[in-house]
Amino acid sequence: MSERSEPADRTSTRVIALLNQKGGVGKTTSTVNVGAALAEMGKRVCLVDMDPQGHLSLHLGVDGESVGETVYELLLEPDVDLAQVQIQVRPNLSCLPSRVDLAAAETELAQDPDRHRRLAAKFAPFLDQFDYVLLDCPPSLGVLTLNALTMAQEVFVPMQAHFLAMQGVGKLFETVGLVCQGVNPELKVSGVILCMHEKLSTHVREVVGELEDFFEEHRGSPMPWADARVLRPAIRKNIKLAEAPSFGQTIFDYAPWCPGAIDYRKLAERIVAGTDAKTSIPSSPHSDSEAAVPLDSKIDPKPESDPQPPAEPQLESKPIVEIDLQTDEGPTPEPAAVPENPVIAGTISVEPRPNPEEANGSTPH
Ligand SMILES: Nc1ncnc2c1ncn2[C@@H]1O[C@H](COP(=O)(O)OP(=O)(O)O)[C@@H](O)[C@H]1O
Ligand SMILES: [Mg+2]
Repeated sequence: MSERSEPADRTSTRVIALLNQKGGVGKTTSTVNVGAALAEMGKRVCLVDMDPQGHLSLHLGVDGESVGETVYELLLEPDVDLAQVQIQVRPNLSCLPSRVDLAAAETELAQDPDRHRRLAAKFAPFLDQFDYVLLDCPPSLGVLTLNALTMAQEVFVPMQAHFLAMQGVGKLFETVGLVCQGVNPELKVSGVILCMHEKLSTHVREVVGELEDFFEEHRGSPMPWADARVLRPAIRKNIKLAEAPSFGQTIFDYAPWCPGAIDYRKLAERIVAGTDAKTSIPSSPHSDSEAAVPLDSKIDPKPESDPQPPAEPQLESKPIVEIDLQTDEGPTPEPAAVPENPVIAGTISVEPRPNPEEANGSTPH
């Protein structure tokens, strides 16, 4: 990461935006639980709730409605600095909470030509305090997301491996391409996090294979996704991950040895390994190794070390919020935000191949 320039080259902080314009794909779950796992590994982590729905805050047990300053004030009020917004939620883990008023930032910032740099500017004096900053983006591509992408060095794309999700990913990469050409040329797509993964489905295996083929085809290209990987392990569908937010708990608080916790812990280890080794993130024999061609199976800086899960602790806490477990398409769509002087990226070829008819008879990757 040493060659990175703006906006975070003065530190070794890794700034990662978790981005997918589709709602309900696992952005918030991944931000919280990757962040919590990194914090448990001793990394200093700041999670930023860029979504006016405030789900990240609630997941961490912070009700944005009852705290003082939030991301809204951070972006809108020149005198509010990051320390006034930051809440320490666990050892090594802090968050910048949000509430619904953040949605208004879209229109309130509309006239400011520097609107996309506000978050980066507020973080700049504080960036050294963190090893990782994870930005939980809203399910839209407006000014809030643009602030996240302007500040980030990397994008992780949480998604479910389904045919229609692939169409969305093409659009997403197009947006990252536009941001790169506009405001943040260093931005890279590091990888896809497979969420709610059901490895036994033939369709899922085919989609993962297509995704890996797409990334392989772009190796060495000037595209921001030239180094992207399908990150391993995939995060298995696990009801504990859906339950934990209603208790205001991370998966490591709630069910530390459930499959979801094990998957996120291993994913975080590999993300750290990616920083340390500055090499491709290895595949995991632990996960859905049969689901797709393993990537870089020769490199694994961490031994496989799944501890035997002890009996899960009895939970005494009561739910503090009602979380809708249905797929959530998010709030009112934000207006499309296009950087100044956009360059048309054209259609990115992420069409799943073969098409659904052909796929039925094809061999999985
Ligand atoms: N691996 C998983 N297994 C089961 N449920 C999950 C998993 N990941 C996320 N969920 C649930 O799916 C819903 C959408 O996830 P969320 O992280 O909120 O998506 P997004 O932030 O992209 O809208 C939430 O109810 C969440 O608890
Ligand atoms: Mg979310």
